[in-house]
Amino acid sequence: MLYFKKKDIMFTGIQPTGLLTLGNYCGTMYRWRNIQKDYQCFFCIADLHSLTTFKIDNSKYCFSSNILDMVALYLSCGVDPTNSVIFLQSHVYTHSQLYWILSNFVYFGELSRMTQFKKRLLYNNTQINLSLFSYPVLMAADILLYNTNCVSVGLDQKQHIELVKKIALRFNSIYENIFIIPDILIESIGSKIMALQNPKKKMSKSDINVDNTIFLLDKIDVICLKIKQSLTDSDNPPQIVFNPKKKPGISNLLSIFSSLTNTDISILEKRFKFYQYSSFKKILSDVICDTIFKIQQSYIYFRKNEDYLIDILKSGKKTALNYSKNNLKKIFSVLNLV
Ligand code: TRP
Repeated sequence: MLYFKKKDIMFTGIQPTGLLTLGNYCGTMYRWRNIQKDYQCFFCIADLHSLTTFKIDNSKYCFSSNILDMVALYLSCGVDPTNSVIFLQSHVYTHSQLYWILSNFVYFGELSRMTQFKKRLLYNNTQINLSLFSYPVLMAADILLYNTNCVSVGLDQKQHIELVKKIALRFNSIYENIFIIPDILIESIGSKIMALQNPKKKMSKSDINVDNTIFLLDKIDVICLKIKQSLTDSDNPPQIVFNPKKKPGISNLLSIFSSLTNTDISILEKRFKFYQYSSFKKILSDVICDTIFKIQQSYIYFRKNEDYLIDILKSGKKTALNYSKNNLKKIFSVLNLV
């Protein structure tokens, strides 16, 4: 079990459904290595959240290959298990307990206004279960159980975190100031990467057109091809300028470049002013492949050692459980549930 130094707490999580994408990387994972210097970090694998859309049918589920892939990818992005906690959400029962308590502090109207939920409803309104509706309440439990000071997420999760803050404030106004109100850590550029063939929608791991998405474990030559074939805008003469409304294709590629190289978009616009789309794409594809190749090299290294990955989850479970149990106790106590 880890013992913590006195630092602010950062919490983040990703669902273990399918493989992670460049969108996940630019949205939050790219900052994981460095953020550990400033924060005590909790990295959650949010498997209870993925129950909302996917059925678990593997009897050895909790250490199934999907989960171990995630642990190996977390490590490959620089998470250091000797300083940070990596854990599986379903291993820590306190999350579902706090979830129920918090569901008493959020209104039907508030959850109905969540855009992610509304989109799901539009897409398929016959198989919407309660958990899809109450999804952000479980996020609230995840975050608030750990006295979290800041949450690192992509732009698509911003609305959920705003609701988490509201729930915490509401609870605090009735009971003692039990919860810390977390800040949201979101980059303005790169936190929302769009689909390569349709840059008006988000890059998603569940897209049926695989050419829309760069997966962190895609073969390098496949990545080059996906970038080469990505949709750019049909303006004449072609210009490399950032304008997401008028030129969503090239703007998306500029965002990826900016995010991976930590360079301002305005600098990139100047640098590539006289470039053709094809030469810009070639340089971008080198940048992407370079980053992803390094991740893949360490992924191969970590993924081979399953015992090590399982140990990380076991130890993460102990630390997360121990830490969150104390907080849950306080919450039970203010509610007179002891
Ligand atoms: N909902 C997040 C996603 O789909 C995953 C998640 C679950 C999360 N709990 C969280 C993210 C708590 C941040 C904090 O990406």
